[in-house]
Amino acid sequence: MKLFLQEVSLGLSKKNKKLNSKWFYDFYGSKIFEQITNLEEYYLTRTERKILQDNKIEIANKIGTNAVIIEPGAGDIKKIGIFLDNLDKPKKYIPLDISDNYITKIAKGFKKKFPNVAITPKGYDFSKNNKLPFKINSSENIIIFFPGSTIGNFEKNDAVKFLKMLKSKFKAKKIIIGADLVKDIPTLISAYDDKKGVTAKFNKNILRRINIELGGDINLNFYKHLAVYNKPKKRIEMRLKSKRNNNIRINGSKYFIKKNEEIHTENSHKYTIRSFKNLANEAGWKINKTWTDDKKLFSVHCLDLAL
Ligand SMILES: C[S@@+](CC[C@H](N)C(=O)[O-])C[C@H]1O[C@@H](n2cnc3c(N)ncnc32)[C@H](O)[C@@H]1O
Repeated sequence: MKLFLQEVSLGLSKKNKKLNSKWFYDFYGSKIFEQITNLEEYYLTRTERKILQDNKIEIANKIGTNAVIIEPGAGDIKKIGIFLDNLDKPKKYIPLDISDNYITKIAKGFKKKFPNVAITPKGYDFSKNNKLPFKINSSENIIIFFPGSTIGNFEKNDAVKFLKMLKSKFKAKKIIIGADLVKDIPTLISAYDDKKGVTAKFNKNILRRINIELGGDINLNFYKHLAVYNKPKKRIEMRLKSKRNNNIRINGSKYFIKKNEEIHTENSHKYTIRSFKNLANEAGWKINKTWTDDKKLFSVHCLDLAL
């Protein structure tokens, strides 16, 4: 709560207003994200699931025996279920998410499906250098599973830092990671601006949380959801555009948002196979294998430590 308030007051005091996308995800936000994954326009989830399904035997072989699988930002943890049965004696599965109530609830149902795997969900914010909420035994076969194109939410430098941290802190031996690919702009835009307005509701959840958790008085109707493709940076940017001048009050502090001013809420970077390889290499990883779909919409990579 304290961190949320600090980040919100800093982000709204800047000339170019900005809020971190991790604040979308309370229980309600995670439920909305689940709805997004089922939208016609949101090709990412179904394409990645198909890639995992089509290649599950090979992926299981890459992961190897007695794996300890850690999934940061696990969300609805549906993707691991695609190949968990194919693994050879998996030791543990540790789903981590900032949305702690959500991950705990989802994992309960998951445990019933896979009673033979030790599943220990934890609330954890991976964007801070926080202490891990579990013990790491570096001699184990530690595998990071990081699907969902969550890597795309990081600015490039932060993505490198994050991938380095998976090595230094999590002691990962391999990473299975999903990255969305560069493609035509209309397909990208509609994936982040669906007809039913589900993504708009998701984007505004950050304002709803400010109202509920920080005592804010923001009128959500004054804001319009925007999804814009930033071509030079190869990323979709989600923003909230103010339709009118408005004063807002949060925890006793006042902020003035001008008409047409935008609050930048999320980046979703798109990669090519080459640019993703460069990112991995910069962070001390090398690509062992890349899988894609027929239309080259999405990519899943197995990364090995570059010695
Ligand atoms: C794009 S969704 C992907 C969810 C899931 N991995 C999938 O493939 O469908 C991003 C997930 O990361 C979580 N998340 C975002 N920022 C986080 C942070 N800083 N620390 C931990 N989890 C975070 C969100 O709650 C959400 O579940």
